[in-house]
Amino acid sequence: MARARFIIIGGGRVGRVLAYHLLQAGHRVMGIVETHPARATELKALFPEVPVEDAIPEDGLSQCDCLLICVPDDQITEVVKTLIPHKTHLQRQIIVHTSGSVPSAVLSPLRHRSVQCVSAHPISSFSTLHPSTQSLQHVFFDLEGDPEGVQWFSRIVADLGGRALSVTIEQKKAIHLAAVFYSNFFLGLAAAAQDILQQQGFPSEHRFQPFLPLIQATLSNLEQQPPLQALTGPLKRGDVSTIQTHLDLLKRHAPEWLPLYREICRALLPKLDLPEDKKHRLKQLLG
Ligand SMILES: NC(=O)c1ccc[n+]([C@@H]2O[C@H](COP(=O)([O-])OP(=O)(O)OC[C@H]3O[C@@H](n4cnc5c(N)ncnc54)[C@H](OP(=O)(O)O)[C@@H]3O)[C@@H](O)[C@H]2O)c1
Repeated sequence: MARARFIIIGGGRVGRVLAYHLLQAGHRVMGIVETHPARATELKALFPEVPVEDAIPEDGLSQCDCLLICVPDDQITEVVKTLIPHKTHLQRQIIVHTSGSVPSAVLSPLRHRSVQCVSAHPISSFSTLHPSTQSLQHVFFDLEGDPEGVQWFSRIVADLGGRALSVTIEQKKAIHLAAVFYSNFFLGLAAAAQDILQQQGFPSEHRFQPFLPLIQATLSNLEQQPPLQALTGPLKRGDVSTIQTHLDLLKRHAPEWLPLYREICRALLPKLDLPEDKKHRLKQLLG
């Protein structure tokens, strides 16, 4: 795609990853707006050729092709409010925010002439402030909003090595919720596993590494099969006494994780192909 000009508002985790990969793909980042002073200093060091400002540059607004808003979800409305007085400088820009939970409609007050409003959510997790270590290769972006804007940003996503997925607002909400289960709750489960191992005196290097082949095998199975077919373990087999042992161990050593163990088993049980008497005994055991 022809070289496009971007202004990025918010140079945190997502803003700087996008800035880095846009530059790598040959696009131009005309400026990054960042209100956090320490982060602004980091950005100047990361991108010496890009102006870093603490307010939106009015002249840049009319010259850019895309205004990319990468601030925390709660701040998007505030950014929109600060942009409204400058609306007359906008005429054909694509205005994009990267939130997974906020629809593109939050940008509607900026509609003016041929401005297009889009939400573009990268379905990935950016946990560090070092953009060069975070790849966008094969990352799906769910896109929702004005059709022309969605089409335009799909081409940008392709330039970044990602894949665009055009969705409805309801589908966008479902993607965000699913991402919480796949990513946030997975890490919640990892925290439970590590607490349980720590209780038995395992040093930190033995709380994850020995389980890595198991995690990798599970992911590989999940790539090939639906979750309930990929599932192994005592619940899948209906091993009542093993589950009783687990509940006793949790009660004694990590009671804070006991309700979670129970609830996951209870939610899965009706979906499993087990003899009815086993299901009944497990249901009683799980309470
Ligand atoms: N991180 C992820 O894995 C991920 C993945 C997909 C989508 N997203 C979405 O991407 C967006 C950004 O997330 P993030 O993780 O990059 O957040 P972040 O790391 O907290 O970065 C946001 C940055 O924006 C700055 N900021 C706040 N208000 C501003 C304003 N009015 N003008 C300019 N800068 C402002 C913040 O400064 P202060 O700290 O001073 O407020 C912060 O440096 C969110 O909508 C999030 O839902 C994040």
